[in-house]
Amino acid sequence: MKDTMQAYVLEGGADAVRGELKTLPTANLPAGEVTIRVQCSGINFKDAMISHGVGRMVRTFPHIPGVDLAGEVVQDTTGKFKPGSAVLVTGYDLGVAHWGGYAEFARVPAAWVVPLPRGLSAREAMTLGTAGFTAMLAIMALERNGLKPEQGPVLVTGATGGVGSIAVDILAGAGYTVAASSGKADMHGFLKTLGASEILSREAVVDATPKVMLKERWAGAVDNAGGKTLEYLLRTVKGWGSVALTGLVHHHEFSTTVYPFILRGVNLLGIDSVNCAMPLRLDAWARLAGRNRPAHLKEIGHVIDLAALPGKLKEILDGGARGRYVVRIAD
Ligand SMILES: NC(=O)c1ccc[n+]([C@@H]2O[C@H](COP(=O)([O-])OP(=O)(O)OC[C@H]3O[C@@H](n4cnc5c(N)ncnc54)[C@H](OP(=O)(O)O)[C@@H]3O)[C@@H](O)[C@H]2O)c1
Repeated sequence: MKDTMQAYVLEGGADAVRGELKTLPTANLPAGEVTIRVQCSGINFKDAMISHGVGRMVRTFPHIPGVDLAGEVVQDTTGKFKPGSAVLVTGYDLGVAHWGGYAEFARVPAAWVVPLPRGLSAREAMTLGTAGFTAMLAIMALERNGLKPEQGPVLVTGATGGVGSIAVDILAGAGYTVAASSGKADMHGFLKTLGASEILSREAVVDATPKVMLKERWAGAVDNAGGKTLEYLLRTVKGWGSVALTGLVHHHEFSTTVYPFILRGVNLLGIDSVNCAMPLRLDAWARLAGRNRPAHLKEIGHVIDLAALPGKLKEILDGGARGRYVVRIAD
């Protein structure tokens, strides 16, 4: 392993966070059993929040963000992973309370490490990243709760973002009729390519009336928005249908009555990709590499290098995500 590494480093404190590309000694890597030569990372909404100090998730600086990484094992002191084996890591404390993927090397606990599923390259795995993994978990939760293609359309909100675009792609590939809501009028062609058959504006999936129930419309939903969008979904999902709640891009608060739950048997399913147990984690990654592999990874993923990272982090924070950005660190 080299003595130094290139990294995107955040400096700051409670009020302001600033990021820049730096060269750091690899001796500064945090404690951990598995040292990984990082090939690719990705950008998630959480990375954008952390890199701008939103939500004050990071308390210790200097910090290397990046909640996803894929690369090759350099050393594993537990002996579980052989040097050179291809692996990925998403979630846990990676990029939050522990240095993350925006660096040439990372060191993590062995319990966080997932063998790269057969059939996925590091770049493809990071096109998926936490976003794709979360989309898969959401769809698996909907299916565990009875969702089937013949029950009708499934709505995906925040559809042009990472979780949204991959959810649309997987659902369409699995035979579902997919509706997508998006704030980007110029991205309808992209959503149609992924398999959406109906596209709604963000405003069309909010209903400001005080009605406690609205006409049943959706067999299920993957919701990246929360807030008023989630309030609309709970009132429009068909009887015994489910909403898999993944995100909060609209708002972290929502209000509801008990009626969707006790009159229509609606399920609100929470999705947590960060602390997902390893057996479910491996299952979801196997599905992403196998029968639910998104058909449009090339159209969804855009490769950038570390130098382009700051601009893209800001774009994502401002709601401008279009698919996924893969951060290429090394070959
Ligand atoms: N639960 C988990 O474990 C987990 C894992 C990953 C992500 N998340 C959360 O899931 C959400 C989506 O993550 P992501 O990585 O897909 O983010 P992303 O790539 O930044 O995409 C978010 C998308 O949401 C839409 N959007 C932005 N601002 C909005 C607003 N004010 N109201 C409604 N829609 C808005 C935009 O799509 P359109 O322009 O098409 O509307 C945007 O492209 C985030 O809240 C993230 O924190 C949670």
